[in-house]
Amino acid sequence: MPILGIDYNKCINCKKCIMQCTAKFWDEGDKVVFDDKYKSCILCGHCIAVCPEDAILHEKMGSEPYTYAEIINPFEYIPYEKMFNFLNSIRSTREYKKDKVPDELLRKIVRAMQIGPTGSNMRDQKFKVITDPELLKAIGKAVLDERLKLVAEDPAFMERQKIADERYSNPLYHDAPAIIIMYCSGSNSMDHYNIGIGVTYGRLVAHSLGLGTVWNGYTSGMLEQHKEIIKLAEVRGKSWGVLEVGYPAVKYERVPPRPEKKINGLD
Ligand SMILES: Cc1cc2nc3c(=O)[nH]c(=O)nc-3n(C[C@H](O)[C@H](O)[C@H](O)COP(=O)(O)O)c2cc1C
Ligand code: SF4
Ligand code: SF4
Repeated sequence: MPILGIDYNKCINCKKCIMQCTAKFWDEGDKVVFDDKYKSCILCGHCIAVCPEDAILHEKMGSEPYTYAEIINPFEYIPYEKMFNFLNSIRSTREYKKDKVPDELLRKIVRAMQIGPTGSNMRDQKFKVITDPELLKAIGKAVLDERLKLVAEDPAFMERQKIADERYSNPLYHDAPAIIIMYCSGSNSMDHYNIGIGVTYGRLVAHSLGLGTVWNGYTSGMLEQHKEIIKLAEVRGKSWGVLEVGYPAVKYERVPPRPEKKINGLD
């Protein structure tokens, strides 16, 4: 069990851990006791994060706890205006430079995808980074072939596809030099959300590194339906998110109008 108890040499009985985790820390007046009698700890680490004395004893849970000045007041780190403008600047990149993305940056993106929140703190998601141009092309072609079978009767799609074929050598991925596939078993009702959040975390970090991305929904959809594509990509699962990554060859000058979505409950 990764949470082992409390170091009473450090504990000041502030009871903050109880508020974060009502069913595993028990208030015995003169001291707080850790007893996960219902075996319901989800390893979220809130007790470790909140303890002012770093008194929670635990086994290794991946990385060691650490801190930094901005953790206390994150709004001072990135105030709303900065955050909103950053989010508003992120578009789906459909034109990439030929430059490869260094492994070091791809690792940083995957690291961000790993820290996204998940329902019940499920940690079973996996990642596949694909940078081999031949494999990228093979997957892109397999997905597109399946897509074309569905829309062969649609002249507008076929016309658009013809233009894309002339423009890109791997049209499905807009010639991006890398894709990251995030996937998991699909056995949990929150899996699609968890993947969605992870991919979004990856996108945000990629753009903070000067990279561009597209969420490639066609690939996710076809991975759900075609075992051959799963085999080709060497992944296993039932829930998928696919992110194109590359250096953008496009600059956006302005934020275009985006129709507001309906809000209920506010004046
Ligand atoms: C899709 C999804 C559903 C969640 N549902 C609940 C919920 O119903 N109640 C709750 O207290 N926390 C919920 N959470 C929060 C997770 O338990 C939490 O993200 C996880 O334990 C990691 O902790 P953190 O978000 O503080 O990093 C949910 C998170 C996600 C992503
Ligand atoms: S890791 Fe989360 S669930 Fe487990 S004891 Fe700490 S606060 Fe509670
Ligand atoms: S939060 Fe830390 S110091 Fe406070 S009661 Fe819990 S273990 Fe003790």
